[in-house]
Amino acid sequence: MSDTVERWVERFICATTLKQKLTPQPAPTRWSETPSVLRLQAPGRPPELRVVPRAPRRPRSLRSPSARARLLHTFLHHELQAAELMGWALLAYADAPMDFRRGLLRILHDELRHAALYLEQVEALGHHFGEFPVRDWFWERLPSCASPLSFVASMGVGLEGGNLDHSLRFADAFREVGDEAGARAQERIGREEIAHVRFALRWFRTFHGSFDFESWKSALVPPLSPMLMRGRPLNLESRREAGLDERFLSALSDWQPTAEGPKPATI
Ligand SMILES: [Fe+2]
Ligand SMILES: [Fe+2]
Repeated sequence: MSDTVERWVERFICATTLKQKLTPQPAPTRWSETPSVLRLQAPGRPPELRVVPRAPRRPRSLRSPSARARLLHTFLHHELQAAELMGWALLAYADAPMDFRRGLLRILHDELRHAALYLEQVEALGHHFGEFPVRDWFWERLPSCASPLSFVASMGVGLEGGNLDHSLRFADAFREVGDEAGARAQERIGREEIAHVRFALRWFRTFHGSFDFESWKSALVPPLSPMLMRGRPLNLESRREAGLDERFLSALSDWQPTAEGPKPATI
């Protein structure tokens, strides 16, 4: 029996070598005719990756190449987790529309390209993947998404939306210290994330029937809150291009955590 996309995705998530993670074999074209729901709880991790329970401290200044490499290493690990979690959703929501699952596979490949771009930058700065500790923060949260609605709210509109703000800010920070290649990588990835946010927004509307700030906030998987899903300043241009309207953007910008609400976490 020939290989299926589902089996390929499962192998990719569970892989334990850097090569299988970063440059997996091409995916087959055949999808399973009777896919079963599979909710993986954790990814495979190559022994070279030191996974730690707390986020390593972000460097304060990006002047030194090793500080920039450390930051890009964190981003590289975010992209790897994003790729794995797109695959996770494809397996977990086996009964979701085929069009949605095909889109997840497409985005998985985009995230792998982003990881490769960051790896190139890390190596150009004289470092390698595994040299700094990593945290599986996204994996600690997203497998609790009970529905595809919650997944697209938390991952796509939420975290990838936040990435539109962060990539713009970091592009400026890299440029400021004279790292033009680093700035361009941020800009390129930030641009490509717009389509991911648009995809999530489109499917939020399909699953829920409509989209607004309140329904998005209630679909977020606990303990995630809008706090983690925005950077300062908001990248209004990219967010508008992704399809987010002015009412949503001002509600996101104005939102304040309540005293009894979940404490903001650090990624
Ligand atoms: Fe990405
Ligand atoms: Fe993305």
